[in-house]
Amino acid sequence: MFIEARITERIRSGRGITTLLFDRPMEAKAGQIVMVWIPGVDEIPMALSHISGVASITVKEVGQATKALSALNVGDLVGLRGPYGNSWDLTPRRILAVGGGVGMSPIMTAVEAVNDRSRVDVAIGARDAGEIIFEERARKASDDVRVSTDDGSYGIKGTVVSLADAMMREKRYDMVLGCGPEIMNKYLLKACNENKVPCQLSLERIMKCGTGLCGSCVIDGLRVCVEGPIFTGEQISRMTEFGKCKRDDAGLKVKI
Ligand SMILES: Cc1cc2nc3c(=O)[nH]c(=O)nc-3n(C[C@H](O)[C@H](O)[C@H](O)COP(=O)(O)OP(=O)(O)OC[C@H]3O[C@@H](n4cnc5c(N)ncnc54)[C@H](O)[C@@H]3O)c2cc1C
Ligand code: FES
Repeated sequence: MFIEARITERIRSGRGITTLLFDRPMEAKAGQIVMVWIPGVDEIPMALSHISGVASITVKEVGQATKALSALNVGDLVGLRGPYGNSWDLTPRRILAVGGGVGMSPIMTAVEAVNDRSRVDVAIGARDAGEIIFEERARKASDDVRVSTDDGSYGIKGTVVSLADAMMREKRYDMVLGCGPEIMNKYLLKACNENKVPCQLSLERIMKCGTGLCGSCVIDGLRVCVEGPIFTGEQISRMTEFGKCKRDDAGLKVKI
């Protein structure tokens, strides 16, 4: 589905991170993605950061398209294609949701979709205090929200994987959900394996069509836009490219 969506609210969520709320809802499940068309600039993949009520995306400025998107104002129009991809399996009883930086965006939709604050704990991490997002939102939906920063400027000093590892040693979880940079996902998978907790991780690859046709998002034969973006720990453990290489804009494999 393609819709034109008007920005109704623009919230600075963290340093270089902006949440854009749209004037219409989108029939989507937690963890799903959209292709966002920024008129005259580009079309890029984004996780939805709100799925109930209105739709929203949360954008971290990294290059031309994300900077242009972040600079849009209330009243401006974007195109949204989707939703695409699979969604989190939220049926396990006790869930630990782990988000690194803007990876908190699809994690937050999962935490809210569980809709039972005693069933889901949250570990939020970032490099520093300026990149911590959605802490207040998480506290409204979960009894146990903990925060870490790599430099110790806010919350516990250390990576969010160390924090999640400590939580897994302290409490029993039936499932871990994770989204963040690939290096974070890699070490989170290791920690989950060591603690014998199954996990689902949301992965990122260059995406062009979003519909399974172009092959630009393929990782070990699986399309991030169709079979993903969420993969189980078992699936990821069988991938030879995870944590090692990805395709660039030209489709060539490059080291991560
Ligand atoms: C499934 C998925 C969900 C995502 N969700 C979010 C989100 O919720 N919030 C957010 O801020 N970002 C998200 N991204 C990443 C976002 O799509 C890229 O940051 C954006 O496309 C970069 O475009 P640019 O022109 O600003 O930067 P560029 O100058 O094009 O690139 C900057 C960096 O982003 C990487 N990149 C470039 N194009 C893509 C692409 N099409 N897909 C993935 N990585 C790319 C490049 O390898 C480079 O490291 C997601 C990506 C995927 C695949
Ligand atoms: S973006 Fe996934 S196949 Fe084209």
